[in-house]
Amino acid sequence: MRVPIIAGNWKMNKTPEEAAVLCRELLPLLGELTDREVVLCPPFTALTAVKEAIEGTDIALGAQNVFYEDSGAYTGEVSPPMLKALGVKYVIIGHSERREYFGESDEMVNRKVKAAIAHGLRPILCVGETLEQREAGVTETLVKSQINKAFSDVSADDALNVVVAYEPIWAIGTGKTATSQEANRVIGLIRATLGEIYGGSTAEAIRIQYGGSVKPENIAELMQEPEIDGALVGGASLEAESFARIVRYDD
Ligand code: PGA
Repeated sequence: MRVPIIAGNWKMNKTPEEAAVLCRELLPLLGELTDREVVLCPPFTALTAVKEAIEGTDIALGAQNVFYEDSGAYTGEVSPPMLKALGVKYVIIGHSERREYFGESDEMVNRKVKAAIAHGLRPILCVGETLEQREAGVTETLVKSQINKAFSDVSADDALNVVVAYEPIWAIGTGKTATSQEANRVIGLIRATLGEIYGGSTAEAIRIQYGGSVKPENIAELMQEPEIDGALVGGASLEAESFARIVRYDD
């Protein structure tokens, strides 16, 4: 049984004070969470504030990026041991905004995945196609290639600690969601690709989220699909009530 995992990607939003306020509003709305995992991914500068605010709860702390070296002359970067020392458990790697605006290649994504794992952080690895790629009919080849490259030299045991997020880029922040059937189809293909690398039983155990305009109104339908194990939520995670409704999608 794969435990559902809902993660909030706050992107470049919230000062430490605003982050603490959002957590204070969110916690009572979430209630007890025994059968699903919830992860909050604030910007680096609000990690400590969120860590303090979620202390004693089952919510996990996540970061939005990480560099692949431990330390050194890499101005502006943050390393896996630094995140680990702050109590971070998950880290988003290869988000399409990082691939697009900061030139992250599949090779960098792979290095980051390996570095995160080596330090006991769990990657939330993002893959997904642009609208042009979808219209050109290359969604399947592209996503397969992103998966193969990201998991290069990652052992089966380590792969079990990775969460994959399938995020069609045309659905991020646009209000357009992939239909749940289409999201399920591509996620099934991702699982099949993981099966080719690691074998069926490992692939069956790896969690794969959907991301892209997830809202309280569409989460239940997405979660009913057999291949979809959770969601990576951007915009709707910035508001306590909508994120709580997403987390409690089956209420
Ligand atoms: P969105 O973002 O929910 O605002 O579409 C999702 C993401 O980029 O992770």
